[in-house]
Amino acid sequence: MHSTRYLNPVAEIEKPFLRALAGQGNAVPPIWLMRQAGRYLPEYRELRGRAGDFLDICLSPDVATELTLQPIRRFGFDAAILFSDILVLPHALGRPVRFEEGVGPIVGALAGPAEIADLATGGLGKRLAPVYEAVRCLRAELPAATALIGFAGAPWTVASYMIEGGSSKDFAKAKAWAYGDPGSFQRLIDVLVETTADHLIGQVDAGAEALQLFDSWAGVWPEAALRRWCLDPATAIRRRVRQAYPDIPMILFPRGAGILYRDFAEACGAEALSLDTTVPLAWARAQVQSRVTVQGNLDPIALLAGGGAQQTATAEILDALAPGPFVFNLGHGILPQTPLAHVQALVEQVRAWRPRA
Ligand code: CP3
Repeated sequence: MHSTRYLNPVAEIEKPFLRALAGQGNAVPPIWLMRQAGRYLPEYRELRGRAGDFLDICLSPDVATELTLQPIRRFGFDAAILFSDILVLPHALGRPVRFEEGVGPIVGALAGPAEIADLATGGLGKRLAPVYEAVRCLRAELPAATALIGFAGAPWTVASYMIEGGSSKDFAKAKAWAYGDPGSFQRLIDVLVETTADHLIGQVDAGAEALQLFDSWAGVWPEAALRRWCLDPATAIRRRVRQAYPDIPMILFPRGAGILYRDFAEACGAEALSLDTTVPLAWARAQVQSRVTVQGNLDPIALLAGGGAQQTATAEILDALAPGPFVFNLGHGILPQTPLAHVQALVEQVRAWRPRA
């Protein structure tokens, strides 16, 4: 599928990020960073400090729009990612969600399978309307060359928060549920497949031009479970979104999938895979980029450290992957303590890269 688009590049796509997702090359590699709107930006900390509760911010179109634009103004990234969170979905499904400073997200944990039927699947569009309103505002305000990415959490990653009640070290509760009662766990995943697809389609309805599905905790599963709880749901979501919007590209981030990245590239139907920091570059080029566009994968800590280590790691990624369909990014989200000068240096280095003659 990808190779066909390769051979028959359709009408000229203007935005470099969207060109890359269509499998087309770019003279200058497009770049954006996961969590680019966040606490490493002084203007984020300032607005965040006066805007109140994190979930309220996600559901305030004006604030979400402004926070999305901040990193674009400062660094001119090729893509803007909507300011929101993967946990707006459990919130919209009627679960209590709050964010505690220094702790992270706290989600009212599902007590057991009986509560799956109580999830408020109807009226999701209404409860998430402020998110779609932010997307609409952004399409009106973004620079012409900047693409707008909508996103959601993948079913397993979202389910893990809904079962654990927040972040977790070993995911013991969520994994034990899946192993002990796969039938009811499947029902939860199915609800999340359906509602996640609806949420992504809602963002495209409002103007999102590409989608990213974050499976941040994919890497905690052995193979069979990874296929069942991560690969299959992502494939189902991809199919549903494609039925509504055949031409909207999707990036999948199955963090920690290891050599199964290759199987995701082959089977899930996403146009691009976001590589985590551990994926070897030569392997990614041969096994993943031969099938789909790749995005990644600078270690966020190399960006935090800066200097020669950052420069060398960045050059290695560019030399290995930028000759093919590629979007520069980190292997995971940018850390709050990252110096702005390091981000500026990164953007300059990526934009200065040229293919070897
Ligand atoms: O700039 C962007 O990337 C867009 C916004 C975005 C946020 N969260 C804002 C946010 C995106 C794409 C996410 C995705 C997200 N949220 C993921 C998947 C990606 C990943 O990092 O693995 C996950 C697992 C979450 C859940 C979540 N939200 C956690 C675990 C936390 C706490 C950790 C932290 O950094 O504080 C959040 C809060 C959150 N989401 C913040 C931001 C900017 C920090 C909130 C603050 O300002 O205090």
